[in-house]
Amino acid sequence: MLKKIIALTLAIMMVATCLTACAAKGPSLKDVQKAGKLVVATSPDFPPFESLEDNKVVGIEVDILELVADKLGVELEIVQMDFDSVLVGIQSAKYDCGMSGITVTAEREKNMRFTTPYYNAAQVIVVKEGSAITGKADLADKTVSVQTGTTAESGCQDEKIKYQAFNANADAKTALTTGKVDAWVVDNLTAIQMVEEGDGLVILEEKMTEEPYAFAFAYGSETLVEEINNILKPMIEDGTIAGIFEKYGETYAKP
Ligand code: ARG
Repeated sequence: MLKKIIALTLAIMMVATCLTACAAKGPSLKDVQKAGKLVVATSPDFPPFESLEDNKVVGIEVDILELVADKLGVELEIVQMDFDSVLVGIQSAKYDCGMSGITVTAEREKNMRFTTPYYNAAQVIVVKEGSAITGKADLADKTVSVQTGTTAESGCQDEKIKYQAFNANADAKTALTTGKVDAWVVDNLTAIQMVEEGDGLVILEEKMTEEPYAFAFAYGSETLVEEINNILKPMIEDGTIAGIFEKYGETYAKP
C-alpha cells in the first residue's frame, strides 16, 4: 500500500514537472541579454502600429520596443511574417516577442504570456460610402472580411457573422473595395489610416468591441516579461507612450 502511494506521488510529481518545464520554452531575461538581441516577430501591415517604409518596419510599436530594448541593453531584431504566423511563432518560442497590435484575450493567455496592456483599442466596421449597413445588427445576413487569426475573425465566429478571412490585412480591405464582401472588420486606428488612403470607405460609429493591446511572449519568458513590464509601466504613466501616439498623429487611449 505504502509503495503504491509513493509510486503514485512520484508519478504525479513527474507529470507536474513536465507540465511546467516542458511548456517553459521561451527565453529568460538572462538568455536575451546574453544573446544581445530581442528577436521580434511582426506582421507589418498594420499602420500606425507597424508598417513598411522603404522596406523598413516603422510605427508606434517599433518606437516603444526600441526604447524597451535600449533599457534592456539589447538590439531589436525584427522578423516579418503574416499575423497568424506571429501568434504560432510566439507560442512555439520560435521568436522572443510578438509585436503586432496583439489583443490580449483569455484564449490566447492559455498559450502565451502578455506584458501589461499599453493601449485600449477597438474593432470597428468599415463599409463603402452610402452603404445601408449602419451598425453591428445589420451584419446578420451579410458577409464581412477579416484578417486570418485576428480577434476580428474570432469575433465573427462568436457572433455567427459570415466572413472571409485573408492572410494580409490589405487583402481584407480590397475585398470590400471590390465588392466581394459587404463590410470589413478591423482595428480602429488601422481602419482610420487605411480608410484615409481614399477608396470611398467609411468607418461606422458603433464599435464591435473594445480590446487591449500588449506584447506577446512564450511561456517560460516570465523573467523577461517582468523586466519589460518594469520598463513599460512607467512609460505608460509618464506620458512617453502617449507622446509616441501623438508623433503618429493619433490620440492615446490608456487601458
Ligand atoms: N488586434 C487584432 C488581434 O489581435 C488584430 C491584429 C492584427 N495585427 C497585424 N499586425 N496585422 O487579433
